[in-house]
Amino acid sequence: MALTMVPTIAVLNGPNLNLLGSREPALYGTATLADVRDLCRRTAAEVGYDVDFRQTNHEGELVDFVHEVRETASGVVVNAAAYTHTSIAVRDALAMVAAPVVEVHLTNVHARDEFRRHSYVAGVATAVIAGCGPAGYAFAIRHLAALDAQTAGAPRMPEVDGARQHA
Ligand code: DQA
Repeated sequence: MALTMVPTIAVLNGPNLNLLGSREPALYGTATLADVRDLCRRTAAEVGYDVDFRQTNHEGELVDFVHEVRETASGVVVNAAAYTHTSIAVRDALAMVAAPVVEVHLTNVHARDEFRRHSYVAGVATAVIAGCGPAGYAFAIRHLAALDAQTAGAPRMPEVDGARQHA
């Protein structure tokens, strides 16, 4: 019997996100990173994808993660956390990803410190979602699945048909 590969969406998380749940809960909420991972897995399963969910506190390791998934992932969700605002290396790695990249932030970075308004990632991202909490990851996964269906010519998903109607 032939094995069918389930396509994968990579979800990459940067520094301090391992402490979600206890990290500044007034800002970031009480959901843990494990809760976010479970939400990503559930959402991806609903649209027919696996999730490769990772977190690191180290810039070079985040670059390595991007290299590892850059040719195999059907899409990449990235919350580079503080490296969003500082890392040309992370941006350069994401620029080499074949599939679409969606930048996600739990908080609305534009309503916070001035230095959070600039993102090195945004210029190489297809979409940016900020301020929706963990739901932003789920929105990103659904969007990537819709884009993938569009490019693969697979049966269309409602979001894609809606987007076409409004194009
Ligand atoms: C964050 C926003 C960043 O500015 C911050 O450094 C983070 C988390 C967010 O998800 O809201 O660590 O990416």
